[in-house]
Amino acid sequence: MKSILVLGKGDTQYSDRNRARFVDYAKKAGFEVLASDYHELGKLGSFKNEKINALFFFPYTFWNANCEVPEDTKLYGTSRAAYEKFSKYFLEVQGELEQKFRGHDIHYVIPPQNAPIDRDKVETISRLRANGVPTSEPVDYGSVDEIAGKATPKRGVFIKCRYGSEGKGITVLRHDKWVTNYKVEGNQLANYGVYDKWEFTEITGRMDLLGQLLQNAVIVEREILTPDNFGGMKFDLRAYVVGNVVPHLFIRLNNVQKEVTNYSQGATIKHHPETGIKEDCLRAAREIAKNAAKAMGLEFVGIDIMFDGSLENPKVVEAQAFTDFPDIRNFNMAKYMAGEGSGLFKE
Ligand SMILES: Nc1ncnc2c1ncn2[C@@H]1O[C@H](COP(=O)(O)OP(=O)(O)O)[C@@H](O)[C@H]1O
Ligand SMILES: [Mg+2]
Repeated sequence: MKSILVLGKGDTQYSDRNRARFVDYAKKAGFEVLASDYHELGKLGSFKNEKINALFFFPYTFWNANCEVPEDTKLYGTSRAAYEKFSKYFLEVQGELEQKFRGHDIHYVIPPQNAPIDRDKVETISRLRANGVPTSEPVDYGSVDEIAGKATPKRGVFIKCRYGSEGKGITVLRHDKWVTNYKVEGNQLANYGVYDKWEFTEITGRMDLLGQLLQNAVIVEREILTPDNFGGMKFDLRAYVVGNVVPHLFIRLNNVQKEVTNYSQGATIKHHPETGIKEDCLRAAREIAKNAAKAMGLEFVGIDIMFDGSLENPKVVEAQAFTDFPDIRNFNMAKYMAGEGSGLFKE
């Protein structure tokens, strides 16, 4: 019987559903399971086995209290301090776990030192590239003028907040049109609400707003040109890596004018095997996703891949350690992870 320690708890029944489901399946599969939120480690009982498998879910309680702070009026997704708090927290949790379970050998599916990395887009892209994973291409820039000049008639420039997610805080410069999905309030960039749709506003030629944006932590990338495989829709591919396998993938499609393919920003999903993408392209995407997972040091991760110009040219855009699970009607990730085949948990 293997032992699994499940940490974290959603802040709603909905955000907790994947974790709750996983705990159920793992118990049914005969694992010894202990589960608690991160701040309640002290209340946990003890494990029989020497080997403990730790599976982390998103630390909502900590995040909501410390990182997503309502009175923080900064530009969304640009706070280094929030990222540092988040990173430090995982190391503290690791310290506590090692103290509490002294004498045990803890195997981390999501190692504490790697857990926060995907929230830093600069670090993520640089790690992936250092490990030979093809990614979106970062653009070096000095001045505001220089960056504006990088948008050519063929290819625009994507500016994303460095620590953001859910397709929020994105600005796109094309040679003849600039747009941002920050809220534009007079001559200030501001935020929409956490759960709003972040709609794009045209800001062509607004050097003042661009200057303001670049005073914050951002990543600047060359635009990836989505090939026309889905009636002109913009799309990307999400591959789930579990151990050494990609057990499921899907594509996310959105109107090109929407600029982003995040589900939270209105994208629709087509699951495998109904993506219409040829098996050899999917095979290449799975290999890239597995290499990306290795580069990030994560045994369970969602990897997002775009295609530049054609399906033969996959590029990783981002990684997600605390990924949502696929719709259960298409793939039961909780059951898969708890199954023998996942190989995720050690004896
Ligand atoms: N370099 C790029 N070129 C074209 N589209 C991009 C580029 N980078 C990101 N996107 C689009 O924007 C979306 C959000 O970017 P991403 O890096 O995944 O940030 P987030 O953490 O907000 O999801 C992606 O899903 C993709 O649709
Ligand atoms: Mg994304």
